[in-house]
Amino acid sequence: MSTPANPDTELIAGLFKEFYADSSADGSSSPLTSHGISEYPNDSKEISPPVHPDAQVASPHAIQPAESASGGHSAGSEEAYPFGEPSCYRDENRSSGKTATKATPSSALPYTDDSLSGSEFYFLKHTGTSGSAPPATAPSHPGRGGALSALDVEAIRADFPALHQKTNGKPLIFLDNAATTQKPQSVIDATSHFYSRDNANIHRAAYELAERATRAFEGAREKVRDFIGAADAKEIVFLRGTTEAINLVAQSYGRKHIGAGDEIVITTIEHHANIVPWQLLAEQTGAVLRVAPVNDRGELILDQFASLLGGRTKLVSVGHVANSLGTINPIEQIIAIAHSFGVPVLVDAAQSTPHMPVNVTALDVDFLVFSGHKVFGPTGIGALYGKSALLEAMPPWQGGGHMIRNVTFAKTTYQNAPEKFEAGTPDIAGAVGFGAAIDYLQNIGLAPIAAYEHELLVYATEALQSVRGLRLIGTAANKASVLSFVIAGLEPEKIAEHLDRQGIAARAGHHCAQPALRRFGVEKTVRASLAFYNTLQEVDVLVRALHQLKKA
Ligand SMILES: Cc1ncc(COP(=O)(O)O)c(C=O)c1O
Repeated sequence: MSTPANPDTELIAGLFKEFYADSSADGSSSPLTSHGISEYPNDSKEISPPVHPDAQVASPHAIQPAESASGGHSAGSEEAYPFGEPSCYRDENRSSGKTATKATPSSALPYTDDSLSGSEFYFLKHTGTSGSAPPATAPSHPGRGGALSALDVEAIRADFPALHQKTNGKPLIFLDNAATTQKPQSVIDATSHFYSRDNANIHRAAYELAERATRAFEGAREKVRDFIGAADAKEIVFLRGTTEAINLVAQSYGRKHIGAGDEIVITTIEHHANIVPWQLLAEQTGAVLRVAPVNDRGELILDQFASLLGGRTKLVSVGHVANSLGTINPIEQIIAIAHSFGVPVLVDAAQSTPHMPVNVTALDVDFLVFSGHKVFGPTGIGALYGKSALLEAMPPWQGGGHMIRNVTFAKTTYQNAPEKFEAGTPDIAGAVGFGAAIDYLQNIGLAPIAAYEHELLVYATEALQSVRGLRLIGTAANKASVLSFVIAGLEPEKIAEHLDRQGIAARAGHHCAQPALRRFGVEKTVRASLAFYNTLQEVDVLVRALHQLKKA
């Protein structure tokens, strides 16, 4: 893969037109960066209004007035509402101008059956183990259907013990799922069962416990293989998580194939885990990092990405979903373009694997990495997928037990992949829990999960428009359930502290994506990241809590 093929520029141009017709209009002024990480100037062009395209076409709606909320604020109280009354109740605050002029009951929320009937996900049904309890969304959001009722969220929530507690005296609303996810009881049980019954070190002993532990560990590898559609379990390497997996590729593949003057292409909106390992490699080898820009919605400008590729490009490493913005990158097109230049692609799937189906074979991706703790499994475990031929040609990156074939003081020979990359005792119980998490997700189905979360995202995006002074950072047309925002005049940390007092766990900070946020002229945001166990009611509580903010 190290020799670039002859680029077929017409084919590439055609691809752009077909897949990304409007990107250049937005992004043509965005600078290209050739060395290291750029500080993108905040475009002088007006930032796109923080309105999700889907939200714009949605029917007008009104959120329950604050009198029903926890704060008990009266209309017109400037003390309670520093920016005036919640704007969802006012026509003038709606970009569409179609909003209801006064508070309406939640039964008048906009997502009627009609509005959902056109959904591409409308046909999807929950295939999981859920019982006959009504969907959690049904009681206070009648009239909503489609994906929202296709998942039995009440039954799902019952599987997650951590969700059923109070923090600061209020029912916990966990909206920090991009950082880590809560664990279903089945994952907790699988880990606990391993330690109480099967615990032994793997691969190295003939007794029954060791055999059980080995079977459980290798069984988890098979589950990961199946989860991402890999051809062979040997293509799955267990590691600590996404960060370690990217570092492995940088230090093993990179040190072998990427030299002085060679280029690695990433994007502006990467997590630091997909920036710093390449910078370390660049320092070590003299390679150069090239950064593809995004437009004002946070969407990759595909033609400018392609214009960075050339004879010196040795690797493209790109996030599937941006953790700070929610942008879903068009990885099919990215991979097709990179491959047309003979360049292999690593996809950081840390934020996509919890939310949507990912299939490495269909994608024809070269490397794919993700973390167990973000797919409702334990911390400390994750996976690297690599095509067999690539993994076999890569040198080990850490030495120790298990990764060797034969050791003498003169020379050591190594196992094949994946063992070659798994020196020392791995997180065996973590792998077992990881496998249980995959079972759990597959039992529900990633497609219904994606559909449900999309509806939550559309609803939340629209509802957040009602908060005076709120600016969404990241308004890509194709987005996962991440809502990153700032509110004029308020520090993100203060907002997060206020939310915490309401029992709402949301993150404030740079989300390990400083260049991404700086592209939008901010250092920090508040980020509410939703999972399939979150509900419309929780979104309502979040929005009401934001309406109650006092000026810091
Ligand atoms: C897109 C992305 N990549 C990489 C990481 C790093 O994952 P981990 O800390 O599990 O290694 C994260 C974590 O938030 C992420 O969101």
